[in-house]
Amino acid sequence: MAFASLTLILFTSFCLILRAQAQAQAPAPSSGAVDLVAILQKGGQYTTLIRLLNESQQLTQIQSQLKSNSQGFTLFAPTDNAFQNLKSGALNGLSDEKKVQLILYHVTPKYYSLSDLLTVSNPVRTQASGSEGSWGLNFTGQGNQVNVSTGVVETQVNNALRQQFPLAVYQVDKVLLPAELFGAKSPAAAPKSPKSSSETPTVGKAGGAPSPSGNAQNENGAAGRNVGFGVILGVGLFCMGVLS
Ligand SMILES: *[C@@H]1O[C@H](CO)[C@@H](O)[C@H](O)[C@H]1NC(C)=O
Ligand SMILES: *[C@@H]1O[C@H](CO)[C@@H](O)[C@H](O)[C@H]1NC(C)=O
Ligand SMILES: *[C@@H]1O[C@H](CO)[C@@H](O)[C@H](O)[C@H]1NC(C)=O
Repeated sequence: MAFASLTLILFTSFCLILRAQAQAQAPAPSSGAVDLVAILQKGGQYTTLIRLLNESQQLTQIQSQLKSNSQGFTLFAPTDNAFQNLKSGALNGLSDEKKVQLILYHVTPKYYSLSDLLTVSNPVRTQASGSEGSWGLNFTGQGNQVNVSTGVVETQVNNALRQQFPLAVYQVDKVLLPAELFGAKSPAAAPKSPKSSSETPTVGKAGGAPSPSGNAQNENGAAGRNVGFGVILGVGLFCMGVLS
């Protein structure tokens, strides 16, 4: 009887070691590398932005330039709500080229912490600067609150999703509409008639669902650590079955 118990405990230990090794080998996000999509996905409300960044090739651009650009980047990330609150047709009325410019306008080719933004000299160049017009952003601050203004919209710079060189990502609750595309003189500013609802961005509505995989893994991990004796017995018996 004692021998059987000892054998069981040995098997159990062996199986737990195998299990621990299997868990250790599970791919972990490599620390150090900046993963913009992961940062935005963790935020949970940037589906439209991720799609637009992807479609405009900016995901790969920023991701690859982050490795070489010594200045870093700052991304102002409009939420799905911000895109949904745009006038109907505002986004879909843009040509592909202008959509890219709109996205580039949300990125500065330099890393700014929030306190940098409080003292930065206006206007601040964006990735869209260089083409005709200024494509600059103006920042004003009071206390710890920073506002960003395009001349068309002004909004607060909120919640830093990431604030660590070389990449800063800040939530904004409005899409930063550049005066160059949406200013008074631009025809894009006033879409003539509300278009059909199919023109409004719809991707965002599906965005709330949290990704289940991460949580499931965490729960499994916690359960694994909290194994009671009964579970050890169970695992031992299971392993004996598997290994025999
Ligand atoms: C980017 O777009 C490609 C092609 O449509 C798609 O396969 C990929 O999953 C997208 N990536 C992200 C992060 O959405
Ligand atoms: C920032 O903008 C908000 C409106 O969005 C305004 O109420 C507030 O006074 C502004 N703050 C600064 C520092 O400009
Ligand atoms: C931004 O600031 C600059 C310099 O202070 C000013 O000339 C320009 O008119 C401002 N632009 C907007 C859109 O507020």
